[in-house]
Amino acid sequence: MGANRTVTFRIKRFDPEKDRKPHFQEFRFELQPGMTVLDSLLYIKAEIDGSLTFRYSCRSAICGSCAVRINGRNRLACKTQVEPLLDRKGRLTIEPLPYLPILKDLVVDQTAFWEQYERVKPWLVPPDEVPEKEFRVSPEEVAAFEDAEICIMCGACYSACTVVAFNKKYIGPHALLKTFLRVMDPRDSIVGERLEIVGGSEGVFRCHTIFNCIEACPKGLNPTKAIETLRKMVQKRDQIVAARAERQKHLTEPIRPAS
Ligand code: FES
Repeated sequence: MGANRTVTFRIKRFDPEKDRKPHFQEFRFELQPGMTVLDSLLYIKAEIDGSLTFRYSCRSAICGSCAVRINGRNRLACKTQVEPLLDRKGRLTIEPLPYLPILKDLVVDQTAFWEQYERVKPWLVPPDEVPEKEFRVSPEEVAAFEDAEICIMCGACYSACTVVAFNKKYIGPHALLKTFLRVMDPRDSIVGERLEIVGGSEGVFRCHTIFNCIEACPKGLNPTKAIETLRKMVQKRDQIVAARAERQKHLTEPIRPAS
């Protein structure tokens, strides 16, 4: 454990009742070894300025509420250690997620993010006949989700996307990744409808493949690859719908081990 060190946080502040536009404020304090950015924000709020406003909940990189921009990159405040990000003068810069309206300080309005999420019907729609016990999904089918189910909906990818910056009607990487998850899941029965939604004018073909979403994701997910897969699937929609209907006839049967 190293010694405490005096650090300076440059934090973008905005109070809609007082400020005409956002501005930076500096906070100097003693950083203790092991402190995360969220620990530091909580310290500043408790000891220096109680009006500093930010979101957080789980403190464990699970709830996704603490995403902010740290030194120009979207990250989870609770998962980010301060020490490695300090410059030579011990400074670090924190801003709210970009491209979204600021409500106060580091809190942004996520209405567009959630509206797009809802638009793709993110829930699983099972077949009409639900078995008494369980559906049987093979390990290969689960592997094809590419871990998309671990997305924590933090908004880091959405607000790093330069298409979102100019077009809030774009479905966005978060909701397209969720669509990918549902479309790849053999239990889902509205694959045709999903591919129609994301194949529309504000869907997968709007993506500019800039990879910002991959860089921003704190869970190491790859929304760009999911979008690429969806693009191909949109073009084979009828075949995929037919294959899904066929697969769902056997969803309760035991899975044979891959040979
Ligand atoms: S506080 Fe929940 S992800 Fe950071």
